[in-house]
Amino acid sequence: MICEKYVFNWQGAVLLKNILLIFSNILLYTFFMNLSRLPKKDTIIYIANNFMEKQPILFSGIKPTGRPHIGNYLGALKNWVELQHTHNCIYSIVDYHALTIEIKPVELTANILALAKTLLAIGIDPKKSTLFIQSHVPEHTELAWIFNCMTPVAEMERMTQYKDKAKQHKKNINMGLFDYPALMAADILLYRAEAVPVGEDQLQHLELTRIIAKKFNNRYEKYFEEPQAIITKAKRIMSLTDPAKKMSKELGESSYISLLDSPEQIRKKIMKTVTETSTSKTGNMSPGVLNLIELLNHFDNQKASQEYANQYNKGVIKYAELKTAVADTLITYLKPIAEKYNDISDIEVKNILRDGAVEAKDIAQKNLKEIKNIIGLI
Ligand code: TYM
Repeated sequence: MICEKYVFNWQGAVLLKNILLIFSNILLYTFFMNLSRLPKKDTIIYIANNFMEKQPILFSGIKPTGRPHIGNYLGALKNWVELQHTHNCIYSIVDYHALTIEIKPVELTANILALAKTLLAIGIDPKKSTLFIQSHVPEHTELAWIFNCMTPVAEMERMTQYKDKAKQHKKNINMGLFDYPALMAADILLYRAEAVPVGEDQLQHLELTRIIAKKFNNRYEKYFEEPQAIITKAKRIMSLTDPAKKMSKELGESSYISLLDSPEQIRKKIMKTVTETSTSKTGNMSPGVLNLIELLNHFDNQKASQEYANQYNKGVIKYAELKTAVADTLITYLKPIAEKYNDISDIEVKNILRDGAVEAKDIAQKNLKEIKNIIGLI
């Protein structure tokens, strides 16, 4: 009898030991697989985050106002993909922000789905990041109202994006356009994010977000982090038709290369880009040429970028050759993105966005409840 009990316990212990061994092997395998995929500079951060502390929370968003372009990609989205290794990433298709300009309902719906598919195609991984549609989590607009009641009008009036957009959309200068930065602050602070990868044009909005966070912390209690921007080397890509302005979805299709443009469209748009402008006479490289040479660099063709910069300095550059090199580089780089995009079905992307909204809501509801408690709402 004693002997049987002993055998049973012994077998149980062996079984438990084997289960533990399998689990620890799976954990080790996942850890080293992730490690091997990381760029070298991120390895130490990854190890530190895994063994010492939780990954910092990161939030960013993009408006579904048109097809995402290479300015969005180089300025922000490429970074979104890389930061998935080191941060707890929450990414949103900010559809309420898109309503600040006039947009047809069918167009908006199509843009949202196309944008979500594009984000997946460039490498946003729903297993690593939360990807959702802003309007699926109503806590964003609720928190924006709370922030409205704390943000001085004078701060809003300083916003250069508001001034630019008001000039651009003279017949539709609506309250949403003016109040846009309060909603943006709510997007970020709702998740108590510490990091926000964006292009240079969003820095002023982020500064206002920090002002709002500070105001809240001072008036009530320290609740929010003051989020920091994460900027890439390509923080401002210029328009192809007017290189004095930043590339934007709203400046017309020929002014930007969409991540989904066909090879023919890419070549046509690049061959038509503005190169020499009046500013070139000052001796500095003209902004149009600089933009093209930098595009070569950002899209991993550093050798050609250097070569054309040298040719420009020697005064022997041939613009048709430079444009052909840029078009070829872009076509090669963007091909796999278009292929992945075409593999993703509407059902698949809708399921991912639905699951993402559930994840985001979980955090948003908990945090908004705490915020309401702090300010005295019951
Ligand atoms: P949006 O949709 O205009 O652009 C998305 C991201 O792309 C960056 N970007 C650029 N970067 C370099 N060169 C360019 N020409 C260029 N054009 C756009 C933008 O800086 C942005 O990072 N307000 C935001 C959306 C937003 C948001 C947020 C962002 C709403 N809530 C909270 C961060 C956190 C916008 O209009 O991005």
